[in-house]
Amino acid sequence: MNIEVNPSGPLKGEIAVPGDKSISHRAAILGAIAEGETRIKGFLEGEDCLHTLSCLEALGVKIRRKEPGHYLIEGRGLRGLTEPERVLDVGNSGTTIRLLSGLLAGQSFLSVLTGDASICRRPMDRVIKPLTQMGARIIGRGENRFAPLCIQGGPLKAIDYSSPVASAQIKSAILLAGLNTTGTTTVREPLTSRDHTERMLRAFGARINVRGTKVTLIPGSVLNGQEVTVPGDISSAAFLLVAASIIPGSELLIKNVCINPTRTGVLTALQAMGANIHILNEREETGEPVGDLLVRSGNLQGISFEPEWIPSLIDEVPILAVAAACAEGTTTISHAAELRHKETDRLKVMTRELSKFGIQVKELPDGMIISGTKKITGTECSSHGDHRIAMSLAVLAMRASGSSTITDAEAVNVSFPGFFEMLKSCEV
Ligand code: S3P
Repeated sequence: MNIEVNPSGPLKGEIAVPGDKSISHRAAILGAIAEGETRIKGFLEGEDCLHTLSCLEALGVKIRRKEPGHYLIEGRGLRGLTEPERVLDVGNSGTTIRLLSGLLAGQSFLSVLTGDASICRRPMDRVIKPLTQMGARIIGRGENRFAPLCIQGGPLKAIDYSSPVASAQIKSAILLAGLNTTGTTTVREPLTSRDHTERMLRAFGARINVRGTKVTLIPGSVLNGQEVTVPGDISSAAFLLVAASIIPGSELLIKNVCINPTRTGVLTALQAMGANIHILNEREETGEPVGDLLVRSGNLQGISFEPEWIPSLIDEVPILAVAAACAEGTTTISHAAELRHKETDRLKVMTRELSKFGIQVKELPDGMIISGTKKITGTECSSHGDHRIAMSLAVLAMRASGSSTITDAEAVNVSFPGFFEMLKSCEV
């Protein structure tokens, strides 16, 4: 699907973004292996999380949709999943394939996991390696590096694993596998990645200790079904934060956003660039900090990103690159080589697509240098099938002169169904 985007007037109003993608996946997975029922409200009905639900159903889990975003999951307990009769299709979702790999490695049956073309290009050895050290039997294409993955589940042993990269998907896969061992599982990371798994495991009754960048799970506790209210996704709010920052005269109140400190790097970076953003009404919801974000347009300045910010804004680099393109001066983003392993190689794709708008960008091995400009020219550009690229380019196109066309724009449905309609509804 192609979408035409025209220069936008100011954005105004009060809005709520869809539920957090990471928390939605975890609520469904933990609900499936808990004892009793889990009720999830605010579940993200984007394609990624719907793939997690359909994989869980194929594993014998009963899931009922009561209302939009409101689901009841009948927990099967840690040992109650059943062998799927079909290949498990994760679609475009890295979180689904990596977290389920950890969970299925310790089950007493065979599972085969695959996804779309992008998933089959992304590295799976990062989870196969530690899971194999735990005793898992997993084989994958390309000498055990890529999906499809075939997992012959069986008994696992606990490990103490130092991950070479800060990745919540690696950490979570190991912790989910650790639930099916008898020993203490430890995961260490170079910097703290998002900690939703740790928070939610604790809320479901698991024994989990966190010390700095070291997480320890002591298995044996019963996981009990919970009521989970999923807050709005800051990774989705990020597109509106940047849009309102760069379109003069804008003022948006984005209500009910998860402001977990492992996710708020986008706020840190935008505030360092001079954005006018305030957190209001801070509260807690199912173990996660939540707040409302008030954003007004402002004059952004180019900056150098601090290396330690990167894990907490990893998914926001494309939209922050758009903010940088509209800022005064130069922005340098480095230590972000992980972006090459996302739905697309986001460093390469953003460099290519920003250039089409007349923006000067230099691709680095681990980042980008972006020269801010006032001259942004509407153009035809492509999402390359990547949801976050589609939304970033749409925001940029709103600030361009003349109209733009974004190809493969339906990718937004992976994480933000209704994205284009929401933008339209805010334009005055
Ligand atoms: C996610 C972790 C991150 C992030 C992804 C969601 C998660 O990936 O980019 O969108 O829900 O655990 P990595 O673990 O590869 O950093």
